[in-house]
Amino acid sequence: MSIKAKIVGTGSYLPEKVLTNEALEKMVDTSDEWIVSRTGMKERRIAREDEFTSDMGYEAAVRALEDANITSNEVDFILVATLTPDYAFPSTACLLQARLKADKAAAMDIQAACTGYLYALSLAKSFVESGMYKTILVVASEKLSSIVNYKDRNTCILFGDGASACVVSSHTSKKSLYLSKVSLGADGTLSDLLMLPAGGARAPASLDTIAADLHYLKMEGKEVFKHAVRRMESSSKECMDHLGLEEKDINWIVPHQANMRIIEAIAKRFNVSMEKVYVTIHKYGNTSASSVGIALDELLKEKELQVGDNLLLTAFGAGLTWGSAILTVEE
Ligand SMILES: CC(C)(COP(=O)(O)OP(=O)(O)OC[C@H]1O[C@@H](n2cnc3c(N)ncnc32)[C@H](O)[C@@H]1OP(=O)(O)O)[C@@H](O)C(=O)NCCC(=O)NCCS
Repeated sequence: MSIKAKIVGTGSYLPEKVLTNEALEKMVDTSDEWIVSRTGMKERRIAREDEFTSDMGYEAAVRALEDANITSNEVDFILVATLTPDYAFPSTACLLQARLKADKAAAMDIQAACTGYLYALSLAKSFVESGMYKTILVVASEKLSSIVNYKDRNTCILFGDGASACVVSSHTSKKSLYLSKVSLGADGTLSDLLMLPAGGARAPASLDTIAADLHYLKMEGKEVFKHAVRRMESSSKECMDHLGLEEKDINWIVPHQANMRIIEAIAKRFNVSMEKVYVTIHKYGNTSASSVGIALDELLKEKELQVGDNLLLTAFGAGLTWGSAILTVEE
């Protein structure tokens, strides 16, 4: 019988400090009204100065392992999705491996921007279903406040910090989420729409790069918006077609939380009422790779899902990258 990869536990972590729209009004020329009507965001969380991506990832990972009822030494592989790693190297996954004392686990980071959680799920699925590994710890964690320019109103209102995690395994004794299908995509010809210009090999840190604000995230918001809706729709459709599912078969949509108008457009295209779309954007903003995992964790803790329910996860980010997944509730 073929092996099935399932999500058997989830966790998330949000830092305590809240950054409200009202506080942003004092930092840049913006208004609560503008931010809410254009994005749906009311507030977002910001990590402490001494709290980093690996720290938040650790908290989410501990919660996911507890939820899965497994110990860290049962983990075969740790995958960390992030675009704000503690260091360029070593990987944040290695820092987590040490902190979790996951002695037999291999570890690496994945860089697929806001689609990182979906890319990590896809890898976890193939590791488990090929029989290569049994238990994968997927972590997504972001300290976006470390690369956001709080003088740029076009971007600083959008992003927040936070982490999510899940355990993907072939073994479970409880209700779990079968990773029925994951579909991914990328288009590097549009890499300049959303990027961190300096700090890599092409533009190492220098006084000039700092003076030119090149260590802050840059984005062409309007362009990104157009591609986001189109790509999330097409990859979602790809998953549904592969499984022979129709719109009526989708019980929940768990989208990347980048903009409420993008989320509403996706719901409309799939004819799913907004009551069946899980939204956290008003309280956390866009937490990049972490966002889908945070929403999934909260959905699972808050709502009673039935066996057979299908959850559509969909995300989009820099790269450009995009991806969707269908999770099916199993006994
Ligand atoms: C960023 C985003 C919210 C901007 O909304 P928009 O409706 O496209 O707004 P525009 O960029 O057209 O800007 C409209 C005006 O508002 C202004 N504006 C931008 N940010 C503002 C702010 N925080 N407060 C007030 N005004 C603002 C602009 O300067 C522009 O003014 P102008 O017309 O005088 O030039 C939206 O494009 C978006 O969410 N894009 C997708 C971003 C995304 O998903 N990124 C992450 C991918 S993972």
